[in-house]
Amino acid sequence: MENIRQAMIVRTAKQEDFAKVIEIEKLSFSTPWDYSFFEKISKDIFLVFDGQEVCGYLIAGCCHRNVSATILKIAVHPEHRRKGIATNLVHKLVEILKDRKISEIDVIVIDACKPAISFYKKAGFKTVSTIPQASNNDLHEMKLTIG
Ligand SMILES: CC(C)(COP(=O)(O)OP(=O)(O)OC[C@H]1O[C@@H](n2cnc3c(N)ncnc32)[C@H](O)[C@@H]1OP(=O)(O)O)[C@@H](O)C(=O)NCCC(=O)NCCS
Repeated sequence: MENIRQAMIVRTAKQEDFAKVIEIEKLSFSTPWDYSFFEKISKDIFLVFDGQEVCGYLIAGCCHRNVSATILKIAVHPEHRRKGIATNLVHKLVEILKDRKISEIDVIVIDACKPAISFYKKAGFKTVSTIPQASNNDLHEMKLTIG
């Protein structure tokens, strides 16, 4: 933990980070995005947390006439969870969005993703709507007002 804190940096992703990002993606999601999807998706904001190596990432896009931004993905390597890495990624996102005069961040989280729901709540996000799903795995729309 101490080593990660000393060397930590949140920075924009580079092409050479993709392999590590995809490794974390596969460890984090049952239907991971593959390399070509990462290549194609709009990466308006693509941040990585680089300790001694990349151990987390966040992808977000700005929309709604640049009033709000949406988090598309956030994941941290399982060996590095609960060390504040996702929190650091969101803090950097907030900094970037404030510079762009964007006042709101939203995210959709599935009900089964309890750690993510707890994470967003701790980061200050509030649930603004719940979209029921036939599978009972409801979708929660969560928002954070910034600035
Ligand atoms: C959700 C996720 C990104 C959190 O990353 P993280 O770096 O471990 O989060 P942080 O260390 O910044 O956690 C901050 C706070 O969030 C809450 N939190 C995070 N993970 C939690 C968990 N598994 N259970 C309960 N609360 C949790 C806690 O309040 C935590 O503070 P604390 O450690 O002081 O108690 C990570 O668990 C992950 O990659 N999950 C798999 C991918 C995923 O579900 N992504 C989100 C959907 S896109």
